Amino acid sequence: MSIIERISTGVPGLDDMIGGGLPAPSLILVSGDAGAGKTSFCTQFLFKGASTGERGLYFLTFGWHPEWIFEFASSYEFAKREYLGRRIRVVELQSRIERAIRMDDVLEAIREAVCCEIDGAQPKRIVLENVSLLKDVLRGDFRRFLLNLSSLVKEQRIVALVTGEAIPGAPYPADIAHVADGIILLQNAEVNLVRKRSIEVLKMCGTSHPLGRYSLDISARGLTVYPGL
Ligand SMILES: Nc1ncnc2c1ncn2[C@@H]1O[C@H](COP(=O)(O)OP(=O)(O)OP(=O)(O)O)[C@@H](O)[C@H]1O
Ligand SMILES: [Mg+2]
Repeated sequence: MSIIERISTGVPGLDDMIGGGLPAPSLILVSGDAGAGKTSFCTQFLFKGASTGERGLYFLTFGWHPEWIFEFASSYEFAKREYLGRRIRVVELQSRIERAIRMDDVLEAIREAVCCEIDGAQPKRIVLENVSLLKDVLRGDFRRFLLNLSSLVKEQRIVALVTGEAIPGAPYPADIAHVADGIILLQNAEVNLVRKRSIEVLKMCGTSHPLGRYSLDISARGLTVYPGL
């Protein structure tokens, strides 16, 4: 019998495909092109945790304001207002990144937040979006940052979602993919003049999972996977 702890993604249909949920601890790359559903996936994941009493952190990197992420989530039925600012907190990382001289400064800011209790409990779920943008700041230290982030995740036994942009010819950022314990690809591809959403689990440590693309829907309920399709 598997002794791997698993936590629900909150996405109907997906947990069953990956042995009951995301392995904990793990660093999971959620990649996809613009509008594929990365932010929706991440917020659904945080709200699922909050609905079962877990604490979650959303690290703001570039280009977002704390209120925007809450406004964004509010269009979904799963986004219960009472969790915002309580079980789910936004951590502003942007100014720390701008002031960062060394890779350790960014990592220390993440560590401080992860190790700090929220309402009497440590965060179990964290989200870091647009991690690739840190490359410009950390340059040669980017890979070491990813490896240290992965160690922090294991040490604190949390699940971290990091998002990455797909670029033409590369469905995911290779440098993050090598460090990640799991890769989930989201797509919004054109098929016969119609856009079709899909999800693919490319890798998931300690998990037997189907390969290939499965039908994905995004509605007011958030993401739903149709494993048979
Ligand atoms: N409340 C909603 N109901 C139905 N569909 C929605 C809702 N909110 C967003 N969507 C759809 O989900 C899509 C994905 O949005 P999302 O912001 O999660 O993508 P993303 O991958 O994070 O994009 P980006 O790369 O620009 O950050 C939107 O373009 C929209 O079509
Ligand atoms: Mg987004």
